[in-house]
Amino acid sequence: MTIRAFVMGHPVAHSRSPMLHGYWLKRYGIDGSYERLDIPPAELDRFFQDFRAAGWAGGNVTVPHKTAVIPHVGRLDPAAEAMGAVNTLWYEGETLVGGNTDAIGFIGNLDERAPGWDARGGHAALLGAGGAARAAIHGLRQRGFTVGVFNRTLARAEALATRFGPGVSAHSIGELPAALAATDLLVNATSLGMTGQPANELDLAALPAHAIVYDVVYVPLETGLLRAAAARGLRTVDGLGMLLHQAVAGFTHWFGAVPEVTAELRAILEADIRAKTPGG
Ligand SMILES: NC(=O)c1ccc[n+]([C@@H]2O[C@H](COP(=O)([O-])OP(=O)(O)OC[C@H]3O[C@@H](n4cnc5c(N)ncnc54)[C@H](OP(=O)(O)O)[C@@H]3O)[C@@H](O)[C@H]2O)c1
Repeated sequence: MTIRAFVMGHPVAHSRSPMLHGYWLKRYGIDGSYERLDIPPAELDRFFQDFRAAGWAGGNVTVPHKTAVIPHVGRLDPAAEAMGAVNTLWYEGETLVGGNTDAIGFIGNLDERAPGWDARGGHAALLGAGGAARAAIHGLRQRGFTVGVFNRTLARAEALATRFGPGVSAHSIGELPAALAATDLLVNATSLGMTGQPANELDLAALPAHAIVYDVVYVPLETGLLRAAAARGLRTVDGLGMLLHQAVAGFTHWFGAVPEVTAELRAILEADIRAKTPGG
């Protein structure tokens, strides 16, 4: 019987998850499907009422449902509990589990693209306090980094510092330039620099020479922030690998094989992004 999984969101047309799960299904010869479901918020309850009968093995959850699905699951995994958001659903026996693999994706990407990044511990300056920032904080704290959260809306940064506790501090965005000299890892987890959004004009001159600059934005692949970091000779990490690595655990739960993040898969997604991004 065909195993069925999905990505649900609203809108969801832009999602590249069907492309990457479709690649793995083919590569591993699995009788499975991965479908794109546009579920408006008003239809969320109904979607979960019909979930079992529809035969879903599980799926991915994206904006705007990452928090709204929580009352519909039987239990949360520890990462979803810590982040207060769900991005992956799967069954364990009869229990629908809400998990979050975004932190695994965030860290897996760093491990792949900047090996040794956490060898001596360190401090991260994180720009943003939304969903991607939560994943970054959870992952970085697990690897022993302290995190300063800098956000346009200070109250959202403060809410994250309260949620995650010691080791996480909240700051206004205006405090970031002065903090760069003591930063080992700079992360952009805002939509700044994304195609169609304002540019990220942070001056990187004060970052130490060993600092790594990580942008979770992957459209375009090379954001202005990463270009500026590369021009300074700093190590850079783009956001595409986060998308690839967060998908591994979901695929494993639904389809029963541990998929590999290969250079070929990355190249397929890179080509798609470049084809659809002006100047990408
Ligand atoms: N690579 C991946 O796998 C991956 C995964 C998730 C997300 N992302 C990317 O990460 C980015 C953020 O996504 P998200 O889900 O975290 O979004 P979100 O929850 O809506 O948070 C957006 C963040 O961006 C900030 N922001 C937006 N416009 C800004 C501006 N003009 N100036 C300063 N700050 C601004 C917001 O600040 P305020 O709080 O002040 O509004 C907030 O901190 C998106 O580009 C998304 O595509 C990538």
